Amino acid sequence: MRTRTLVSASVVMLVATIMVRAQQAPPATLVPMTAASLAAQPDRYLGQVVAVYATVESLVSKTTFSVDQNPKATGPVDILIIAPNLNIHPKPGAYITIVGEAMRFEAAAIAAKAKGYTLDLPADAMARYQGRPMVLATSVVDGTMTELAKFVPPPVTPEEAAFDAVMKQVNPTLGELRKGVEASDAAIVKAQGAKLRDLFAETRAFFAKRSVAQAQGWAGEAVAAVEAVTKSAAANNWTAAKEAASTIQPMCAQCHNVFRERLEDGSYRVKR
Ligand code: HEC
Repeated sequence: MRTRTLVSASVVMLVATIMVRAQQAPPATLVPMTAASLAAQPDRYLGQVVAVYATVESLVSKTTFSVDQNPKATGPVDILIIAPNLNIHPKPGAYITIVGEAMRFEAAAIAAKAKGYTLDLPADAMARYQGRPMVLATSVVDGTMTELAKFVPPPVTPEEAAFDAVMKQVNPTLGELRKGVEASDAAIVKAQGAKLRDLFAETRAFFAKRSVAQAQGWAGEAVAAVEAVTKSAAANNWTAAKEAASTIQPMCAQCHNVFRERLEDGSYRVKR
């Protein structure tokens, strides 16, 4: 009993650490448990996010392994763990903590939950685990608190890196431009307007090179909106300048909603 209390206390601590690391809000119901309980009463846990503390039994494939709470027990107690982001293999016999959704092993169910992941189990393992309880892991932590399934973003091309630098300047530049418009300051509007115009022109060129016509068109509209601001300001028509400036912000979301993608680690990419 005493050991069990200690075990669950350390699971709770580990899970808290994993959540902080992953910068995710903890799911409403995170159920700490052993692999044996999942094997014994799968229906109680299916569909829930569980934290399983278990012993690694064997490596099944590049992204999967099995755990066993009590290797000496008889019956089907080994549980398959699928960790799409597994990049360090756990050692057989090691104690680890797995956080993920308990489900039944079924290729279609995995495909629906883990977008972009390809099952890599050998045929015999596919047959062996078919329909059995498993965990689709988002986190696998070993005894030294090392995350074995850390998400590694795919590499960016030099063009994408340059475009990212452009995007990071757009918001502050728009902020400065609007301040200039609010203050009816022609010099600020001229300088910041030229800068923002160039940033959107680079955006347009980036999408032109990729032949993404719609994004190219929207970036062109943003260039035109900035030019409308600077022209009106140069003509001392501040009402028109304000009106033109107010049309720029909605253009950001319009393009982001379609052409920007948020990765698991919270960073952004151009949708491919
Ligand atoms: C024509 C398309 C388009 C328009 C217009 C556009 N963006 Fe973006 N933006 C993107 C894409 C695609 C990404 C994702 C690529 C990236 O982050 O490197 C992005 C990423 C960003 C990022 C995230 C950068 C990072 O990695 O942290 C910021 C901030 C941003 N945009 C601000 C803006 C603002 C503010 C506007 C409007 C004033 C705007 N963008 C207009 C396409 C656009």
